[in-house]
Amino acid sequence: MDITFLRGRRTIILSVCGALALTVSALAAGKPLVSPTPPGAAQGDCDTATTPFCDAMMKPPVGWTGHVFKLAQDYPATVPDDAQPWLKFDPKTDGNAYLQSVLDFFYEGNIRADVEESFDPAQNKIRSWYNAPWQDFGKGGREFIHGLTRERVTPVAELTPPSGPCAQKDAKGKYPRDCYYNNYAVGFYNAPGGMIIGKVWTDHGKPDATLANLPEGTVAAKLLFTTAPVDQVPFLAGSPEWDAYVYADPHIQTSEIPNDPAKRKRAVLKVRLLQIDIAVKDKRAGATGWFMGTFVYGGGPTGAPGSGWTHVAPVGIMWGNDPGYAGSGPLSETVLNTAVHMPHVGYQGRLNGPVDNPDSACLSCHGTAEVAPKPGMKGSGMIASPTGNPKWFRNVPSGTPFDDGFISTDYSLQISVGIANFNEQQTLRKLAHDTMALRRELDRKAKLERLSPREGGSID
Ligand code: HEC
Repeated sequence: MDITFLRGRRTIILSVCGALALTVSALAAGKPLVSPTPPGAAQGDCDTATTPFCDAMMKPPVGWTGHVFKLAQDYPATVPDDAQPWLKFDPKTDGNAYLQSVLDFFYEGNIRADVEESFDPAQNKIRSWYNAPWQDFGKGGREFIHGLTRERVTPVAELTPPSGPCAQKDAKGKYPRDCYYNNYAVGFYNAPGGMIIGKVWTDHGKPDATLANLPEGTVAAKLLFTTAPVDQVPFLAGSPEWDAYVYADPHIQTSEIPNDPAKRKRAVLKVRLLQIDIAVKDKRAGATGWFMGTFVYGGGPTGAPGSGWTHVAPVGIMWGNDPGYAGSGPLSETVLNTAVHMPHVGYQGRLNGPVDNPDSACLSCHGTAEVAPKPGMKGSGMIASPTGNPKWFRNVPSGTPFDDGFISTDYSLQISVGIANFNEQQTLRKLAHDTMALRRELDRKAKLERLSPREGGSID
């Protein structure tokens, strides 16, 4: 780490500057916006104890006329009566119909003729949806157009059977650099989830993770977009496209992103809908309390042609990790849709989505959602280490932490990641006047950030 980095970060931490000075002429799609992308809290008017949460980690430039993400943070104190159409279906025997009814519920009032204006909670006349705060931090922090955060980077070969150079791994097991694409996502919670986020964050300066027990009927849904183009991944033809202020290099690996925020190059790129994740708190799941399912755009590599938000097919559903499963024979807590053929799912055939790590699974990773009892304490991390470690394939009961002495956030990784980000920002602020200690902390943080959480990096 050089001193410029330190100075850069320090200035940012201490500054209370307003809107970033960006020029409209730099806004044409594909052109980088000149932005230091500071942590939102550094701007002083959001993410503090006495202000609303930041919408994103950078502000829209003056003159920007495109869509602007507003964090839906008007969390309700109580939950209004609402239909739960998925209760009509047995999730274990009729997973596709169950997931479709949850997707329809999520889509209601969120789809509009203008793709850029779709999934904007402020415009939904049917029901309220909410976003989790404090995702606006670090290398993958929320961008300002659609609130997208950076996800795992995937090789084309994990999305569709590749051809040409993208089919060949080198001696180290890597594909050519340009065969990897960045993915970005935004998640929403319905009112029961929004209520709990509001309770956890009643005091914006002191989140209380012990309140993160999500009620029956909570739905979380997440839209995942890829920078991969249609000529590399043909089943993306007709997929809804959003503008997003993301890393200018769509192939960039987390380890290549500069530690100094001022040196990170973002640009307005087009991203395409690839995957939709769903999580439902439903007691029929048993100990874990959650059904998790995922959809792939276009039905994946063997899907039929089509277009638009509804042209998606369920990949599968799971409600447990099949503890003790030896790797052969049928799984009893994952059901895959036999009509969809992805190049991979999760570990030993458990459910995972197209952009997810094949050594993990939805519930295996989300079962690690927890908060350290004291800032700085490190949990086990999200991905089984070594591969297949049965600790990650237990059925962690809803409300039980993954590590002894930690506080469970009930399978919500946005709540746990948000609190970890908040704690890290507090630490950096406290160290702002102690150059050596700040340097050590930034160094530690930069090492942890070599991988995004979803890639197995630590969150604290
Ligand atoms: C290796 C880890 C990992 C795996 C595997 C994973 N997720 Fe997540 N997921 C995350 C992280 C980290 C977040 C929070 C940050 C974000 O939104 O990117 C998250 C967020 C979510 C959210 C938003 C609400 C919340 O809980 O924070 C949903 C819904 C979700 N994931 C569903 C799924 C589903 C369904 C699958 C499987 C198809 C899956 N996830 C697989 C790591 C994972």
